[in-house]
Amino acid sequence: MNISGKKIIIFGGTSGIGEAATKIMSEKGAAEIIAISRNPDKMTNVPENVTLEKIDVLDEEALKSFFKNQGEFDVLINCATGGTRAVGPFLKMDLEGYRSSFAKLWGYTNVVRYGTEYLANNGNIVLVSGSPARKCRPGQIAISSVGGAVEAFARGIAPEIAPKRINIVSPGVIDTPMSPLTGNEREEFYKNATQNNLIPRAGTSEEVAKGIIFAIENEFITGTTIDVDGGWLTS
Ligand SMILES: NC(=O)c1ccc[n+]([C@@H]2O[C@H](COP(=O)([O-])OP(=O)(O)OC[C@H]3O[C@@H](n4cnc5c(N)ncnc54)[C@H](OP(=O)(O)O)[C@@H]3O)[C@@H](O)[C@H]2O)c1
Repeated sequence: MNISGKKIIIFGGTSGIGEAATKIMSEKGAAEIIAISRNPDKMTNVPENVTLEKIDVLDEEALKSFFKNQGEFDVLINCATGGTRAVGPFLKMDLEGYRSSFAKLWGYTNVVRYGTEYLANNGNIVLVSGSPARKCRPGQIAISSVGGAVEAFARGIAPEIAPKRINIVSPGVIDTPMSPLTGNEREEFYKNATQNNLIPRAGTSEEVAKGIIFAIENEFITGTTIDVDGGWLTS
């Protein structure tokens, strides 16, 4: 699929990985990109072919009326984190925290449920999981469970929505605004989190966004996961 001239809807497209994807697709000549989040005005240097929208992916009524108003479009991306993430060992975990980590899955399934009927027949969907889905390191049980569910969802629904395609991009440790750490503490965190990887550094938002672009452009892939993780799975 050629991104040039296409209408693209990207949830979570105003920060980090999503913002990088928005900017690459803009440069590739998309006709219109609608970048959506709860506080989209945080995004600066918004290109001309990008429109910002304020919607919470957990608000089903808002999503229904948004998609109805948009009509047909070509690409649906969701990389919104959705809410908070529980960290730590499962047996010590507050189960409410574990359950609320699934907000990311509900955000993803909401937009697929209400958006797919408006997606062009040759259109495609890209969702973002995360490397703990298939290699869970200590403390990552919540995001591992959510990521696994996201990947299973895409594999499972691919036959139902064909010829429309759906794929997942799975990032490793990526330096984005998702981490609130600053200065030395931030540097130490990324160093420690990636030191055992085959490529021992944090990835960039642009590196993951290029995986999203590949999933959009390559018309011979569906129901699959593209790992952009610095070798997390094999280290
Ligand atoms: N960074 C990493 O190391 C890493 C690793 C593995 C997987 N991932 C996954 O990659 C994806 C992107 O993460 P990122 O690192 O780029 O994070 P980020 O910079 O924090 O961006 C997250 C985006 O999601 C939006 N968002 C969050 N909750 C939302 C909601 N309920 N409704 C609408 N928009 C919402 C945020 O905007 P608002 O706050 O304005 O709503 C923001 O635009 C996520 O699915 C994350 O789990 C990231």
